Amino acid sequence: KPDISQNIVWHEDTVSRERRESNLKQRGCVVWFTGLSGCGKSTIANELDRMLVEQGAASTLLDGDNVRHGLCAPPSVLATEHDDEFAERFGLGFSAVDREENIRRIGAVTGLMASAGLVTLAAFVSPYRRDRDRVRQVVEAAGQPGDFLEVFVDTPLEVCQQRDPKGLYKKAIAGEIKNFTGISDPYEAPQKAEIHLKFAAGMTPADQAGEILKQLHERKILQ
Ligand code: PPS
Repeated sequence: KPDISQNIVWHEDTVSRERRESNLKQRGCVVWFTGLSGCGKSTIANELDRMLVEQGAASTLLDGDNVRHGLCAPPSVLATEHDDEFAERFGLGFSAVDREENIRRIGAVTGLMASAGLVTLAAFVSPYRRDRDRVRQVVEAAGQPGDFLEVFVDTPLEVCQQRDPKGLYKKAIAGEIKNFTGISDPYEAPQKAEIHLKFAAGMTPADQAGEILKQLHERKILQ
């Protein structure tokens, strides 16, 4: 096969990232929430997003369930508008390779958003360390070290299972959902997360979002 990458040439935008960031009075970054289904990552990310907007920051939020309605939709959804071959080829499920592609696509998008100067919040189970590390590389290569903050929402499996907000654990245990993270699929906990949110009774999502907000100021992402 001819190598078409030879015909694709990277070129710099006329408007620099620094110029965009100076207009916004903040540094673009990616705050990447990882953890089991039901661990609270979406709730904390939404709370943080609300706080950021409240204080005038430019932020955006990408969330697993929502992104899987569009950019990373499953084959059955793509099949409503495309032929079966297309749907099978580009639709994503929850096998290891589909999760890898899910995180790769989202990683590329969050990299672009951070380059536009946005505080980009991303909440995905993202169970594989290698996939998360690749996003870190993509984001930092487009900017600088420190642009990617991994937030480990470390809620024990038993607590997530007890919460079971969508009834998915129940279905996974009954064998109705295959490859369910924590039940029939692995979760590789981060070893070097910038922020480790350990579960503690009485700790609210607002407390946890507040902790991240503090870090964003300390790291001079926000002024
Ligand atoms: S991943 O692993 O990062 O590609 O997953 P993600 O895109 O974040 O999607 C996770 C949400 O999809 C629902 N769901 C599952 N999660 C894990 N494993 C399996 N097999 C599965 N099937 C469906 C689940 O609602 C996840 O949402 P959250 O908000 O994490 O509970």
